[in-house]
Amino acid sequence: MPHSPFPIPHSLPLRIAVLASGRGSNLQALLDAQDGSTFAVVGVFSDRANAPALDRAAAAGVPAIAIEPTGFATREAFDAALCDAIDTCSPDLVVCAGYLRILSDAAVERYAGRMINIHPSLLPKFPGLRTHAQAIAAGDAEHGASVHYVIPALDAGPRIAQARVPVRPGDTPAQLAARVLEREHPLLVACVRAIAEGRVFASGSDVLVDSRPLAEPLLLGDDGRLTFPPEATPP
Ligand code: GRF
Repeated sequence: MPHSPFPIPHSLPLRIAVLASGRGSNLQALLDAQDGSTFAVVGVFSDRANAPALDRAAAAGVPAIAIEPTGFATREAFDAALCDAIDTCSPDLVVCAGYLRILSDAAVERYAGRMINIHPSLLPKFPGLRTHAQAIAAGDAEHGASVHYVIPALDAGPRIAQARVPVRPGDTPAQLAARVLEREHPLLVACVRAIAEGRVFASGSDVLVDSRPLAEPLLLGDDGRLTFPPEATPP
């Protein structure tokens, strides 16, 4: 990943564009949490005109735009149109929250260090789809969700934070997905807030937290807050 231009000097609130293809419950968590001072959702973009996420945005008074891939000759052409639309709202940060299309390298590079994704697994475990079924099949005792910076490789960018949940005996993928989703919402909000506050940012392939490289992702506590590493002791 090229050296990140972030944190760019941004005035608060941090301006966020959200990409969502479907239900939009993570978007809703951001809409509910925005307080006008720390971060604000300034645009919602979907590749599906019938995505409920667009209705959630409209209900919150946020511009909601659908750009469907039909009619574009290539992924690159579609992504260029999408990025041009995103840029009209001048976001500081782009949040992929259930965006189901793979982004072209050019789109990812356009937002290097300024684009994050929420993924329903404890990355690097289970990139891609059907993560809940895979965690159950693997006999894992824990599953969860990760928020990470986006790089061209799928679900492989530097991890910011994770939320862990137990896998219970007899869980179905749907039951486990519901348990994870409940924790995704505070996880995503906490990560966006930490970025807005300048505590978290991308630097090359590192995530810096309070200016120090993060060895392991931050963890979401039961109180819905991220646990930050203790301050470094002065030598
Ligand atoms: C979430 O599980 C998210 O982690 C994944 O897609 C799902 C989107 O759910 N990337 P929603 O649309 O936010 O309700």
